Amino acid sequence: MAASVGGALRAATQWLRASGSRSPRLDAELLLATALGVGRTELFRTPERVLTGAEERRFDGYLMRRQAREPVAYIRGRRAFRALELEVTPAVLIPRPETETLVDVALEALAAVPAGAGGAATPGFGPERAPGPGGAAAPGLFEPVALDVGTGSGCIALALAAENPFVRVLATDVSEAALEVARRNAARLGLGGRVDIRLGDLLADLPARMRFDVIVSNPPYIPAAEYRALEPNVRDYEPRLALDGGEDGLAVLRRLIPAAAARLRPGGVLAVEVGAGQAAAVRALFAAAGAFRPAEARADLAGIPRVVFARLSAGDGGG
Ligand SMILES: C[S@@+](CC[C@H](N)C(=O)[O-])C[C@H]1O[C@@H](n2cnc3c(N)ncnc32)[C@H](O)[C@@H]1O
Repeated sequence: MAASVGGALRAATQWLRASGSRSPRLDAELLLATALGVGRTELFRTPERVLTGAEERRFDGYLMRRQAREPVAYIRGRRAFRALELEVTPAVLIPRPETETLVDVALEALAAVPAGAGGAATPGFGPERAPGPGGAAAPGLFEPVALDVGTGSGCIALALAAENPFVRVLATDVSEAALEVARRNAARLGLGGRVDIRLGDLLADLPARMRFDVIVSNPPYIPAAEYRALEPNVRDYEPRLALDGGEDGLAVLRRLIPAAAARLRPGGVLAVEVGAGQAAAVRALFAAAGAFRPAEARADLAGIPRVVFARLSAGDGGG
């Protein structure tokens, strides 16, 4: 007999639990909603609805993939991040909740940029002004400029643009495959007018005179030994380039921090995400760059110091 929504959910939850999922009910709900092409809440409104044969086959296919430890976000092709629904593919890291703390810090830094200091006069900044809700502020309005290094799906850059109607964001990544996903996300969310997405190795490929009010990055920061020990659903599916931070996890940050210091406007802020236990070492990297005020750390919702950030010292930057 064909299964109802309620029956399919119960059976799938049991099966996923037995397969080792840590969130079997949630996984089952998300995958069934995707198989039916509806929102998750719709499942609770129609528990008696009977699945068609095609829907059952689709749902079974998703469950098999999940049993093989493929992340739910890749199976669905989507992931929520702050107020945004983003496309994700195996070319990009699945945005994590802790990265929302980095967005909070960056939004606060953008809100504190003195009016008139913004990017209307930024030489070489790419995006054309475009009207409409996701488009640029009208010419002449205050427009701070942010840079997101290692944008992946574009989650940080797009959240900044969605939540600050004035900011213009340049987003870079060394992975062209990731940038294709980020560009599709920007276009679908109507934010392409204020988010410019470009290929580049950290800050090395930016036009020489380009400067920013805020630079953010969630770089690869997992130490090599920890990378090898990651759970299969992460290690076997998410891009190594997005995760592997070299021997001590800080290889990318060691290059990024001094390079970013040279690209900030006077009083600009650099904010980076770090791994559990790395905040002190990363604050020391900020100090070693010799261009920042003492770096601060911000904890994520789990209480782990997750974001290290600092303002450029007076007299530095802008050059
Ligand atoms: C931890 S992921 C972060 C992705 C996204 N910003 C997020 O928070 O979900 C790191 C990203 O940095 C990119 N990346 C790695 N090395 C890079 C480099 N040298 N220059 C630019 N991007 C780099 C990776 O391709 C990946 O997209």
